[in-house]
Amino acid sequence: MKFRSLNKLPTTTIPIILQKHATFVTMNYITSVIGNSHLLLLHLPIGIMVLAAFLVLWSYRQQSPDFQPIIRLSVKISACAAVVSACCGWFLAQQGGYDDHALWWHQWVGFGAALCCCVCWWVIKSSYFNLALLGTTGMIGLAGHFGGNLSYGSDYLWTRPERDVLVTGFKPDDPAYSTLIQPILKRKCVKCHSSSKAKGGLVLDSYENLLKGGDKGLEIVFGSADSSALYRRLILPIHEKEHMPPKGKAQLKPEEIEIIKKWLDLGGDLEVEASKVI
Ligand code: HEC
Repeated sequence: MKFRSLNKLPTTTIPIILQKHATFVTMNYITSVIGNSHLLLLHLPIGIMVLAAFLVLWSYRQQSPDFQPIIRLSVKISACAAVVSACCGWFLAQQGGYDDHALWWHQWVGFGAALCCCVCWWVIKSSYFNLALLGTTGMIGLAGHFGGNLSYGSDYLWTRPERDVLVTGFKPDDPAYSTLIQPILKRKCVKCHSSSKAKGGLVLDSYENLLKGGDKGLEIVFGSADSSALYRRLILPIHEKEHMPPKGKAQLKPEEIEIIKKWLDLGGDLEVEASKVI
């Protein structure tokens, strides 16, 4: 059924719509909590399965069968944790914002790893167990690695920590503002420039608010970083009163300043693509 406007609805329909909306919002919240818990749970199967593999090696060395019960228990707990974690991961993926290619690899290798954990449990008493455990540990390691690629960028393992923050999963033609500029402002500026705490009358939590400027007027000049007050404040010597962020607060990294400069020089609008500024 299509309704033109809410006023034309029979009054009995409105509570139903509101009720449905409330259920939708609550469900959304619940599914996002389930999704987010993937980030917590995923460490369990990794740690426990590696422990099981380690105990198998250790029991060879010691020629001691005493570890069998604990190895079996570890595999069972790890399999349960892997299945729950994979399901939560599926919910997390539905929230979007991930690079499709990296997500594909992590998702399917992750499900594969959970399946391997179950196979390991299944063959727990057979002579294939050690082989299955070896394969499962490898799969779990791979799934973890693809998860790292997904969250921190494909070069996360070899990248120096200070560059990590800039490399998040985004497509080259995504807008630079939402993928790179806004996260920088959010990390380094918004605690003093939000609508609840607008220092200098400036709010930096959205593009619209940035365009409104602060007490001293407009902060950005489209197409020229050097004429933009916002950029000029970033490159002032740190001891200057107007330097931003103020002395003693978390400063911008040179790469972050460079990204903001390029973005402003290229127009400082929502059209500039991420690949152009990085
Ligand atoms: C610890 C708090 C704090 C942080 C963090 C901070 N600022 Fe500020 N900012 C201020 C204060 C206080 C003022 C007002 C005094 C002034 O103009 O120097 C101000 C003013 C400004 C102004 C001038 C506004 C106007 O029109 O008067 C700009 C532009 C600015 N900040 C940009 C930034 C940017 C960009 C960041 C992040 C990289 C940032 N600030 C981080 C406290 C902060």
